[in-house]
Amino acid sequence: MRVLVTGGLGFIGSETVCALYEAGHEAVIVDDLVNSKIAVLDRLETIIGKRPACYIVDCCDLKAFREVFQKEKVDAVIHFAGLKAVGESVEKPIEYYANNLTSATNLLLLMKEFGVHNIVFSSSATVYGIPQRVPLKEDDPVMSATNPYGETKVMIERIIEDACAADKSLNAALLRYFNPIGGHASGLLGEDPNGIPNNLMPYITQVAIGKRPYLNIYGNDYPTVDGTGVRDYIHVVDLAEGHVATLAKLAQNPGLCIYNLGTGKGSSVLEMVHAFEEVNGVKIPYKFQPRRAGDVTENFANCDKAEKELGWKAKRDIKDACRDAYYFQQKNPNGIE
Ligand code: WQD
Repeated sequence: MRVLVTGGLGFIGSETVCALYEAGHEAVIVDDLVNSKIAVLDRLETIIGKRPACYIVDCCDLKAFREVFQKEKVDAVIHFAGLKAVGESVEKPIEYYANNLTSATNLLLLMKEFGVHNIVFSSSATVYGIPQRVPLKEDDPVMSATNPYGETKVMIERIIEDACAADKSLNAALLRYFNPIGGHASGLLGEDPNGIPNNLMPYITQVAIGKRPYLNIYGNDYPTVDGTGVRDYIHVVDLAEGHVATLAKLAQNPGLCIYNLGTGKGSSVLEMVHAFEEVNGVKIPYKFQPRRAGDVTENFANCDKAEKELGWKAKRDIKDACRDAYYFQQKNPNGIE
């Protein structure tokens, strides 16, 4: 398949481009570089052995986005592009709704215009809101998210559901990610946030290389194994491979389908710190801080449906991810340049 990958130079997008080529597919990347670097394209060429087509285009720019569809005939789309910082979305809700909803509706309009019938949407476990139970299953209720970023995922899922109801030729997979971490074994690709990392793993790796003095652990009074928050940390390469498995499912014309992509196992913040220290032979100093607004106590997936229907299951564990995340950070102390 020839697959258009929006946000294809980002953390998950670039790993997915690698997985696509490994599976014999080809990618056409569309990225506006708001949350990624053009240097990733050279690294993709190094890993893949060929240079994917790449268009530096804002998906909100319908005219420019249409020109990509005019130039490139594609069989499917994987839609990663979007603003994704939870905290920032609370400060800038209008920008988040405008950007994430416009890019998604532009994409769906152009797919219809150019007869592209397959979409994989990068959704998130945040659509479950504050979990009523764990592990989360796909038929658990989609709640109003705890932040505008998560709410855009809820809305885009609904837009895609309505589009599938109106057009029986449309096949759409909503993939609800849990917490992606790690990096490519080459050390060329990994999580490369701008500024101070919001997410746990890039903060830990920056402490590990001495860029930050210690990790702040937000809350040690949760009703969990050790009082710290519990999440389902999935290796980003497993996540990428899940997208490839999903494309095969869409080829069977399933219409709308929804899958959790996680490991099915929850790990606390302290368990992540200890795993990281053990596998990398480093010490991660930390200080307990008050709980972070918007955080949930625990959030992990039931992934039985993806295993049964996609033949996909995460193969890597948190130690693999801690090793690969650290290797990427060591090779890129100042991020991708
Ligand atoms: C994980 C745990 C924190 C940083 C978010 C989005 C989700 C997805 C992944 C985009 C929590 C604790 C964190 C730190 C800490 N993003 N933590 N110190 O909040 O589960 O999910 O990122 O799709 O949509 O909601 O991930 O890595 O920020 O936090 O103690 O410096 O680590 O309290 O328990 P989160 P996270």
